[in-house]
Amino acid sequence: MEHFSHDDFSRISLEGNPEVLAQMNMINLTQRDLELIAGLRPLVVAQIEHITASFYEAILHVDSLKEIITSHTTVNRLRQTLSNHLIEMFDGYIDEAFIEKRMRIAMVHQKIGLPPKWYMGSFQNLLSALLRIVDDLKDTHPDCPALAQAVTKLLSFEQQLVLE
Ligand code: HEM
Repeated sequence: MEHFSHDDFSRISLEGNPEVLAQMNMINLTQRDLELIAGLRPLVVAQIEHITASFYEAILHVDSLKEIITSHTTVNRLRQTLSNHLIEMFDGYIDEAFIEKRMRIAMVHQKIGLPPKWYMGSFQNLLSALLRIVDDLKDTHPDCPALAQAVTKLLSFEQQLVLE
């Protein structure tokens, strides 16, 4: 079948959410992408310290963000939160719980007064760190461009959900 519907895929379970399915369709985030994402998970786990370290280094250079963090939690705790979140993201499954978790993240960030521009900026650093990991595979992995596309789509989708 050429065109996909949610029934075709076990990694996507969003029967009750046609709007979000339409968002996934729009950016062509498919079952295949989620399989590629899941394949990258071990590398993300192995390099998680590095990924979150560069993420927080960039954030802590911005005084207003440093203030937001220290008035609500500690960098170490937030790093742990982000590590868990990222590793879970690379499970490569999208269901109602996935969507609800993003709604909650949006709520938390709104409550602490995190401006969307800084959320987006920090996301770009995350994307860069992940794409570097993919790029390191270029001599051994035949499908590097597809991996990079999958990662980019997943992060775009995440931003669409959190910034809505
Ligand atoms: C909370 C992820 C950007 C500060 C959270 C949570 C997650 C998360 C998963 C936990 C939400 C919950 O309790 O359910 C992310 C991701 C980001 C991002 C994926 C972008 C790539 C930022 C930035 C800041 C920030 C730029 C800078 C101030 C916080 C704070 C909390 C939080 C202070 C609440 C911590 C607490 O009260 O325990 N974030 N975040 N986040 N985030 Fe972010």
